[in-house]
Amino acid sequence: MRPGEGSWACLLLTLTAFQMLPMRPPGSWASRIIGGHKVTPHSRPYMASVSFQGQHHCGGFLLQTRWVVSAAHCFRDRDPQTGLVVLGAHDLRTAEATQQVFSISAVFMHPDYHPATHTSDICLLRLNSSAILGPAVGLLGLPRRPPRAGAQCKVAGWGSVSDFEELPPVLMEAEVRVLGLDICNSSWRGQLSPAMLCTRSGDRRRRGFCSADSGGPLVCRNQAHGVVSFSGLWCGNPKTPDVYTLVSAFVTWIWDVVRRGPHGPQPSPPPRTTGGPAGVA
Ligand SMILES: *[C@@H]1O[C@H](CO)[C@@H](O)[C@H](O)[C@H]1NC(C)=O
Ligand SMILES: *[C@@H]1O[C@H](CO)[C@@H](O)[C@H](O)[C@H]1NC(C)=O
Repeated sequence: MRPGEGSWACLLLTLTAFQMLPMRPPGSWASRIIGGHKVTPHSRPYMASVSFQGQHHCGGFLLQTRWVVSAAHCFRDRDPQTGLVVLGAHDLRTAEATQQVFSISAVFMHPDYHPATHTSDICLLRLNSSAILGPAVGLLGLPRRPPRAGAQCKVAGWGSVSDFEELPPVLMEAEVRVLGLDICNSSWRGQLSPAMLCTRSGDRRRRGFCSADSGGPLVCRNQAHGVVSFSGLWCGNPKTPDVYTLVSAFVTWIWDVVRRGPHGPQPSPPPRTTGGPAGVA
């Protein structure tokens, strides 16, 4: 066998294993909020865009002037030092006067985050300086309790820039309903853990999030009840309902990190560059 062949076989195996994973990152084919519509500019002033090399990668929301909440998987294979956080944006393609741009001074991944099961898929980003609050930049609060099944919520995001997508659209949002975790767990063949939250469209249309909406908030009654985590291969497919991190289960951890700031737990170390499958946003 020539030296190269072993690694090709290994790569193929890796790819095959990846294809068979029952849980996939949010579908890679469609690339924006599914079944949604454009957001009234700056009506969601807490929305954050996390970008790498000038490309929108994930969403997030502003919790405190120096802190953004996002999904842990967004930073799995990324060096946060190369990332930027944009606040006050509507159209990411233009340098809007309302935009404030920050670098990420530290990422705090939840210590129980597990990539294979998506448990505790949440992280905190500490910005290099404080955001200036105003009409286009504002905070979003945390809930004390989980939302009830059937509750009406909205999810927003800038969608992804896939290979076939041109420029990222303006911020989009979709109205969804909370789906009971038992029903959702059956749809996902028993693979969900308790600190998760699911949504469905609530009618026969496909509606929900898609790749690169990850990290963005599910907002119910003006509170961040979920963080976009994962869905099936096809965005908006009711057979694989959208799954979020249940924020109410992480409130204590979040405030603990924020209160202790740089003096608290050590930020997560930079990722090893293993070159795993791309497009896990
Ligand atoms: C924070 O980061 C942004 C983006 O890199 C930069 O423009 C800004 O000057 C930085 N602010 C401070 C206070 O270092
Ligand atoms: C989902 O179902 C599996 C298998 O029945 C079970 O082990 C697991 O605890 C369930 N998860 C939740 C959140 O109920």
